[in-house]
Amino acid sequence: MKMGGRNLFLDTLRGKNKSGRPPLWVMRQAGRYLPEYRSLKEKYSFIEMVKSPDLATEVTLQPLRRFDLDAAIVFSDILVIPEAMGQGYDFRNGGGIEMTSKLINQRDIEKLSEEDIENKLSYVSDALKILRNELGNKHALLGFCGSPWTLACYMIQGGSANGFPKALDWAKNHQSSFNQLLEKITNALIKYIKMQANCGVDALQIFDSWHNLCPSSQLWEYSLKWITKMIDHAPGDLPLIVYANTSTSGVSNLARTGTNAIGVHHGAEIALVRQQHPVPMVLQGNLAPEIMETDADNVMHEAIKILDSMKNDPAHIMNLGHGIKPIAKIECMDALVRTVLSYNA
Ligand code: CP3
Repeated sequence: MKMGGRNLFLDTLRGKNKSGRPPLWVMRQAGRYLPEYRSLKEKYSFIEMVKSPDLATEVTLQPLRRFDLDAAIVFSDILVIPEAMGQGYDFRNGGGIEMTSKLINQRDIEKLSEEDIENKLSYVSDALKILRNELGNKHALLGFCGSPWTLACYMIQGGSANGFPKALDWAKNHQSSFNQLLEKITNALIKYIKMQANCGVDALQIFDSWHNLCPSSQLWEYSLKWITKMIDHAPGDLPLIVYANTSTSGVSNLARTGTNAIGVHHGAEIALVRQQHPVPMVLQGNLAPEIMETDADNVMHEAIKILDSMKNDPAHIMNLGHGIKPIAKIECMDALVRTVLSYNA
């Protein structure tokens, strides 16, 4: 029998994959490109689906019914943490996030609560428990959360904004309350990571999506220091994957956090990253999401380039450099799955 699924994923996380092909999963695989997701969206809002463990389970499983992927990421959002702390979120009609309030002064930070996170997010733990049970040993299950800095961007700005200028301004000019905010978010996230670990996730991805907004001299202070604290307080046996939009050389900054695995953006080159970060550092990602909007031949060609450049690498996970887009084609996902599954170094 060909090896795949959860065992392949776990072997790779330990740097021990000898099967000849990497495991494959895709972020936001449950997203808008699947007609079955869009038809659920006609009946329920995104937030209703996230908050219903049954619907979140269904959306998580949808792509696995179509594609022979090795792992699934729970359907949720990074913004559940601000909501649990007292700052809700919704979507603007024209696209983007709108928070129910924005942080303006110190008092707003004091009002945020880091208490009772597990109870407030029991809809996530309920979904994870159902999923762990449904997936059994067949597929790996990933949990996730945002980084403190990325969540602070939305919370200070009050929603999506080009460059998040209010967040950058606060970080630069009000250092002590910025640190107080990031400390609070970090504490809430540590509880959230422990909760997800207790539900049996095989790995957890931390999204530092707005990493590249930090001035390079402040990367550590604004973002990496807090991720490092999360990693220091996470259960020692839970593999963590840190993702950020960064270049080949920028990946070294992510490695400073002590993470087990790095989500490599498509702006970097994964084989060069490997030269700088030998096994057992797990490397994931790098395939440009836009490729999924082209055609099957092109997907095959681009996927093989990455597969060949990481041939026989025991700690490589095949994945996109970011989430799959709503306009991605199903035939392209099919081609990706076929290419990876039939690859044999
Ligand atoms: O496969 C999966 O379903 C994974 C689940 C997942 C979602 N969001 C579901 C989602 C994950 C891992 C995320 C992470 C997330 N959410 C991040 C970090 C990753 C990244 O993109 O860098 C961020 C920044 C968010 C916040 C967020 N949520 C944004 C910016 C958006 C897009 C808003 C818009 O204008 O379209 C969302 C919505 C969202 N999260 C969707 C999904 C499937 C689309 C919702 C829909 O329209 O149906």
